[in-house]
Amino acid sequence: MGRKVRCGRGPREENSLVMRKASFIYSVAAVAFTSIATLLLPHGSSAAMSAPGAQTVILRPTFAKDIAPILYKNCAGCHRAGEIAPMSLLTYEEARPWARAIREQVAQGTMPPWHVAAPRGTFSNDRRLSESERDTLIRWVDAGAPKGDPRDLPPPTKFTSGSEIGTPDVVLSMPSEFEVPASGTVPYQYFTVPTHFNEDKWVRAVEVRPGARSVVHHILVFCQEPGPPRPPGFVQVVPKMQAHGIAHAHGNGDAHATGHPRGPGALLGTTAPGTNAMIFEPGTAILVRKGATLVFQIHYTANGVVTGDRSSVGLIFAKRAPDLEIRNSAFVNAMFVIPAGARDQSVESAIQFEEDSHIWALFPHTHLRGKSWEYRLVYPDGRSETVLSVPKYDFNWQTYYVFARPLAVSKGTRLEATAHYDNSTGNRWNPDPSIDVRWGEQTWQEMQYSGITFTIDSQRRESARGGTAGR
Ligand code: HEC
Repeated sequence: MGRKVRCGRGPREENSLVMRKASFIYSVAAVAFTSIATLLLPHGSSAAMSAPGAQTVILRPTFAKDIAPILYKNCAGCHRAGEIAPMSLLTYEEARPWARAIREQVAQGTMPPWHVAAPRGTFSNDRRLSESERDTLIRWVDAGAPKGDPRDLPPPTKFTSGSEIGTPDVVLSMPSEFEVPASGTVPYQYFTVPTHFNEDKWVRAVEVRPGARSVVHHILVFCQEPGPPRPPGFVQVVPKMQAHGIAHAHGNGDAHATGHPRGPGALLGTTAPGTNAMIFEPGTAILVRKGATLVFQIHYTANGVVTGDRSSVGLIFAKRAPDLEIRNSAFVNAMFVIPAGARDQSVESAIQFEEDSHIWALFPHTHLRGKSWEYRLVYPDGRSETVLSVPKYDFNWQTYYVFARPLAVSKGTRLEATAHYDNSTGNRWNPDPSIDVRWGEQTWQEMQYSGITFTIDSQRRESARGGTAGR
């Protein structure tokens, strides 16, 4: 791999240079995020795929025989002590009081949480229940939620409390503990964690680990590398710098300050409800460059007790350079204004691939006014298809959507992203419907940010010719 790989943004001066070149791609990445890993290689409880074949109708399900296995597989990832959900559903005694609520949530499809409209099997990290699992849960509650014979209970699932990816080669932690107050809203916290890598590293597994799960809602780990960003493999075609720059300047004399895509870098890993470790397929890895710095963006939720958190990310290195480099990158539209009170404002962005590539995963990210997302591929022959639709975007669930089969995109294909925002009083999460909203890192500001994980096809051939052995 003779190619220069950079991740993250350069220093400020560089960014403005990048801006002038009409490139809004601030994060050209060399790292991956956890959910991605989940997608690339389903791992742990987050990859609860349904088995469409099995449609056995269980007439009188019991907890021991029929319900416990469903809860272990589909719910316990979050519904067990120390995890994000408010209650454990591991035992009959714990689950029984929630029977009505389980029926309701499962029937409505609000649990397990999943926000994408797509046939099952499209995403490898789809959390949805199969129809038979859902029907069995409903029938169990309707039958009075019987316990059944404890001898039928499946052996308790082992949940890792240690690392899920195996023993990391390196664990990079926040420099010190952060004290999360007992109550109130905690603004987003950012922690800078130098890697101290004195050489480039190929990473084949990433796991972001909350120090205190009870207060960590989600963590996004971004990677910033010194030096200019390397060629991203795609060009940004929307927004066009000029048009949007002018439009933006109308709304605000301080266009540069507010419109600056002060993005955090490329995602290396995430942890969010239900999303954990990422392990890349053999022969693929992500590059973290020498001198890279990680930035942890942490959303804390107070839980009634003052709690100290020191979160970390664990990495496992590949022994050799991979056949195929996993690239994590991002594209944004930072030049928007969402007028006060606007109920359905759309903001577009689009990129065009410069080489035949495969898209492995997409990560839509807005803040509290985001209401939906749609991604479309427009092929060189004019054909177009929606590849990801999030009709009810929910800021509380930061999900990397991993394609079960990576999407082939030929050179010249465009990926268009549309985010819709609700800045009206009708949006109950809206922190202030009376202000015009622009790009910014704070939750009361907005983003139109798309993380993308992709590979460039020619790299495989290049490295095959070069005789680079896979992992
Ligand atoms: C990815 C994490 C996750 C998974 C998987 C998950 N839940 Fe939840 N669940 C939560 C969280 C977090 C809440 C708290 C409410 C919220 O934030 O939406 C919750 C809330 C609930 C509630 C409502 C509790 C209340 O206060 O009324 C029920 C019932 C429930 N879950 C049942 C289930 C069942 C049954 C499954 C599996 C079939 C499941 N959940 C899977 C995270 C999860």
